[in-house]
Amino acid sequence: MKLNPVVLSIMMICLFTSSSAQHSEAVALGKIKLQYMLSKQGEPSYQVEYDNKPVILPSGLGFKLNVDSIFYTGFEQLATEKKSVDQTWQTVWGETKDVRNHYEELTVRLQSNHTPRFRLNLIFRVFEDGVGFRYEFPLQPKLKYFIVTDELTRFNLTGNHKTFWIPGDFDTNEYLYTTSLISQIDNRALVASSTDIAVRVAPDPYAVQTPLMMKTDKGLYLNIHEAALVNYSAMQLHVDTKTFSLTSSLVPDAYGNKAYIHAPFKTPWRTIIISDRAADILSSKIILNLNEPSAISNTSWIKPMKFAGVWWEMQTGKSTWNYSDFPDSTDASGKPIPNGKHGANTANVKRYIDFAAANNIQGVLVEGWNTGWEDWFGNWKELVFNFTKPYADFDVKELTRYAASKNVHLIMHNETSGSATDYERQMDAAFSFMNQYGYTSVKTGYVGRIIPRGEHHDGQWMIDHYLRVAQKAAEHQVMLDSHEPVRPTGLQRTWPNWMASEAARGNEYNAFSTGSPPEHETILPFTRLIGGPMDYTPGIFKMKGYNANVPDRQMHSTLCKQLALYVTMYSPLQMVADLPENYEKHQDAFQFIKDVTTDWDDTRILGAEPGDYIYIARKEKGSPKWFIGAITDEDKRAADLPLSFLDKGNKYLATIYRDASNADWKENPEAYAIEQFIVDSNTKLRIQLASGGGAAISIFPATEIQIKKIHSYKSFP
Ligand code: NOJ
Ligand code: CA
Repeated sequence: MKLNPVVLSIMMICLFTSSSAQHSEAVALGKIKLQYMLSKQGEPSYQVEYDNKPVILPSGLGFKLNVDSIFYTGFEQLATEKKSVDQTWQTVWGETKDVRNHYEELTVRLQSNHTPRFRLNLIFRVFEDGVGFRYEFPLQPKLKYFIVTDELTRFNLTGNHKTFWIPGDFDTNEYLYTTSLISQIDNRALVASSTDIAVRVAPDPYAVQTPLMMKTDKGLYLNIHEAALVNYSAMQLHVDTKTFSLTSSLVPDAYGNKAYIHAPFKTPWRTIIISDRAADILSSKIILNLNEPSAISNTSWIKPMKFAGVWWEMQTGKSTWNYSDFPDSTDASGKPIPNGKHGANTANVKRYIDFAAANNIQGVLVEGWNTGWEDWFGNWKELVFNFTKPYADFDVKELTRYAASKNVHLIMHNETSGSATDYERQMDAAFSFMNQYGYTSVKTGYVGRIIPRGEHHDGQWMIDHYLRVAQKAAEHQVMLDSHEPVRPTGLQRTWPNWMASEAARGNEYNAFSTGSPPEHETILPFTRLIGGPMDYTPGIFKMKGYNANVPDRQMHSTLCKQLALYVTMYSPLQMVADLPENYEKHQDAFQFIKDVTTDWDDTRILGAEPGDYIYIARKEKGSPKWFIGAITDEDKRAADLPLSFLDKGNKYLATIYRDASNADWKENPEAYAIEQFIVDSNTKLRIQLASGGGAAISIFPATEIQIKKIHSYKSFP
């Protein structure tokens, strides 16, 4: 038998660790086992098994610090401690009401054997569905202020797994996903061709973003990410395409430094979710559990909601954010000359408020209301927007009155164009302005190169900035939805007013760019959404020809798939993104959007495979209503949906919004059928999804009359 070099080197690593470890300790829970080792040379490492089979081979841990360039070797073990935790906590909002936090913990206290004998702790937690570990620099006399020049955490994989990846870019997560073997990862072509992304900085061709989703050839699913990213820079993964080893690669600042630390300090958690069922990856609570409980004690003002917006009309070129066409276009008296296409005018906003009020939509987002949009983007300017100065045709006082009279919340928009410094200067005024005019939420934005110049969207300075904004918002009881921030790491548990973020390629790319293929929405929940909710902006009903300037532009989806996204693409802030006039034409299908909620008691993953399909059922918070979303990629398929989660013995009315038999995302995206049946916990639905299609189902307790009049569903065998 001839061994290939990879197998050989894996065998050698295994031999090496078993024979040369001076310390070794294991922690296990269910099928997951983590082993920590300290080699004779004092190099700490770990390995992970699932069901007694290796998942992560022995992998090194440690750093290069400015004060110690070999902070990964020469350690002595001082002590180890273990503890078990099994608690259940309640979410403020979420996919489930209760979250079980069940883990075994191992803490290892190390000290370097060379002067000045710095100390480092390793904290490992093993859950039933994966592991998390972090580094702690404890309080110590000699190590106080220092710089992380590199983090050397490794994830040595067992083979050439199938991987769903986007480039490791310092400034954006808005790429299309590539599905490839690890050996095929090279981001150069994608970075070069993604010209619709405003800022791209991806110097390492072999770096990818987390959450990184993988599948082994044995059918095991792995997801690597991080939790509780605070006061540190985001972790990307450098891929060795020959040995299948991944190494933590932190986003640098202008000096190439990765993080400025003041001990005592704990790094974010490095996480690996593992299961032989793809559905378990979607329902994992590891990331939330590794974050701190809510720092906000009174959370009664934090409320999930649907929102409409003066938004898609600007994305599609019907109206503009800017009031004038040029920054210097003023009339004889010095007043800006309107271009006649400004979207955020009082009458138009009232139209959206009326639309929201009539359709069980709680909020209205208004973009382009404040001065600065004439010259806002691309010039790396520091002073762009005024966050308290409305354009002349936006009557802020009157709109506040009008919205309140209709019981609708206006959502503030603060686009910073990347000038975080100027936002920090204006932030107090901006949030006081929101309070003054009764705005309960804000959508922020960071389109453009970051100021402070030299910083990146995902570097330590900006990580701190996003959190400062969330904290400032909390002080003012304002909910936050950030666009173009770092991807989330579960901080919504600690700051539950930080409801959602974008940080990925949203539906908007179908408006101003070539869009995303139908598989995109079957990958996002396994990647970007592992860290937290996404403001994806679903609900487009006019599927073709919506962009007047680009008539052949179309959605990569059927209309029913847009409905299903309200369930499959989790967010407590969910946009009803299309124009009111486009919903007018499909009032019957629009009923699902009117009915669907944004906060849940329970979630069941009925079927899932990354890149192919996702079927999810969710129970509305504090109500017996269930909603199902089922989506597919470019392949049509039959979705089998057993309703065994329903209360036994009860009868329900299921309203099924499905692709018509001749629907197809490319040729016939708006064709759908709506059917009603009586169902119960024994029902097994089988629904045909078109190519690029989906289905949405509402399931409400049935009335006596409905039970009598409406046919029961004939389950498939
Ligand atoms: C990009 C955001 O994703 C989008 O939603 C917003 O409309 C524009 N920036 C303008 O701020
Ligand atoms: Ca596929």
